[in-house]
Amino acid sequence: MDKLFGEKRTKMCGEFGLEDIGKRAVAMGWVANRRDFGGLVFVDLRDRSGVLQVVFNKMAFSGDYDKVEALRNEFVLCVEGELVRREEDTINEKLPTGLIELRVKRVKVLNASRPLPFQIEDETVNDYVRLKHRYLDLRREALQKNLALRSKVMKAVRDYFDGEGFLEIETPCLGKFTPEGARDYLIPSRTFPHKFFALPQSPQLFKQLLMLSGFDKYYQIAKCFRDEDLRADRQPEFTQIDFEMSFVDREEDVMAVTEKLLSEVFLKALGVKLELPIKRMKYEEAMARFGSDKPDLRFGLEIVDISDIAKYCSLTPFKVCATEGSVRVLNGKGMASSLSRSDLEKLVSFVKGCGAPGMSYITVLGGELKSPLVKYFTEKQLSEIVDRTQATDGDVLFFIADEDNRLVQNSLGRLRLHLGEKFGLIDKSKFEFVWITDFPMFSFSREERRFVAEHHPFTAPKDEDEKYYLTGELDKIATKAYDIVLNGYELGGGSIRVCDAELQNKIFRALKLSEAEIKSKFGFFVNAFKYGAPPHGGLALGLDRLIMLLAGTEDIKDVIAFPKVQTAADVMMNAPSEVSQEQLEELHISLKEVEE
Ligand code: AMO
Repeated sequence: MDKLFGEKRTKMCGEFGLEDIGKRAVAMGWVANRRDFGGLVFVDLRDRSGVLQVVFNKMAFSGDYDKVEALRNEFVLCVEGELVRREEDTINEKLPTGLIELRVKRVKVLNASRPLPFQIEDETVNDYVRLKHRYLDLRREALQKNLALRSKVMKAVRDYFDGEGFLEIETPCLGKFTPEGARDYLIPSRTFPHKFFALPQSPQLFKQLLMLSGFDKYYQIAKCFRDEDLRADRQPEFTQIDFEMSFVDREEDVMAVTEKLLSEVFLKALGVKLELPIKRMKYEEAMARFGSDKPDLRFGLEIVDISDIAKYCSLTPFKVCATEGSVRVLNGKGMASSLSRSDLEKLVSFVKGCGAPGMSYITVLGGELKSPLVKYFTEKQLSEIVDRTQATDGDVLFFIADEDNRLVQNSLGRLRLHLGEKFGLIDKSKFEFVWITDFPMFSFSREERRFVAEHHPFTAPKDEDEKYYLTGELDKIATKAYDIVLNGYELGGGSIRVCDAELQNKIFRALKLSEAEIKSKFGFFVNAFKYGAPPHGGLALGLDRLIMLLAGTEDIKDVIAFPKVQTAADVMMNAPSEVSQEQLEELHISLKEVEE
């Protein structure tokens, strides 16, 4: 191999332009592609800025031409020569450097490459193989662009907060286990046998303490860890843009900072100007109309409540559900002719997979309503349903009834998204933001048979709802929490916090935490609030999700340099991995056999 001996590039591959014609040029990079015409070899030389065509002409080449003939994909080169305009018939309009090429006089082969496990730009290679060789996968143009975008966004975020007087403060990764939310990643302590640190699910407690310490405005690009089931928009290790501010007690104050931040980021990253203020929708409205607290507003297809009608129909299960839970309808506009009977049955299986007990449907054809369901409703009731759902010829009305109202909303919400995708109703070029506000403070967990906090337990209730702690009507309490939603993804969430120790205790009691539990889990935190806590609130945006949406991909792995796979493993490093007996002993851990 040749040595570089300190030689420098005149420009990066993608930066050369017409202004360099006739000049000496030195470029370095990887062989992305090589075409050998015997005595004339064309190489696409690639670095992160782009690709430059370099040409080796045996006649004009001064060095050892065998070296050129031995070049293969992904060899690393340093080439020197003259930058020239391409011959007319070799111009490549699609390439930014498509008008020029470098005629090589001298080459250094800085490194060779073995044949690759897959061709870099081959889209058909499966995820596992790519991630196993992530360092090669990252050479792909799309991933290079995504990570450059990520870097640009992080800079825009820091510039914005700095300009607004926020301080960037780091908080620890080794912390204390706290209940609620997802499962923690635990780290055994060597110095304290049988005790564990927990990796932070978010810097929540620390950022509130920083407000108590008087830092006033804090932000951080923070690593967070959650041991939860992975999805296309979730990673066990992810990054938040986290901020908190003092002397605010209204949601609007934090929302305004978030909106300005997002508009800066969109402008700097994509040149897109956001329309501010971002629209708002209360949680109950989002659930009722879209069956989701993160509605995708790029298309219509809204859900309609017909419980008040179904209450008086003659189908007993509908009547019961209408009273105890709800009966709701989604109008599949114009879908009747495209959905065969078996397609419709597949949709029924789909909603059952979402937890719904079943689904009935009525098709509107030739001015008639067709379904076994029709006979249970009077003419008047049917015409009210048609009115309310704005049903016309060619529509399919999907009905779900259950005693659990949220289950009805959620499953129709999932069906709405499914149909939106299936029928191409979603305008993928749009960015549709919405704030979801007025979240309930608690929801009743059937599994745990107690109320659990919808956000975290440090979320302040609406001032006018504090009275319900006294009456015990916990389901009536709405919070000062807000989520920012983009194109059906929860991009971020936050709240105005509780800053009164007495109120915080009421919330813990409502969550059925005993005094001893409160003390051991949050003692230090609750105590801190006794020493002068300013009113405060904040929010955290998922950085990875934000980049994912900016980059126009639906897979969060595409915007993370070294992501985990579905099983939360790093298949490149082979982590997690076994450790030695000595290491385990130091940590006072003995392992149990795992049952297969
Ligand atoms: P929350 O739990 O809503 O709020 O998280 C904030 C945002 O972080 C992103 N996010 C994730 N991204 C990728 N993978 C994950 N596993 C994952 N989990 C969450 C989402 C989400 O909206 N402490 C509060 C914030 C606050 O109250 O200030 C919190 O963490 O985009």
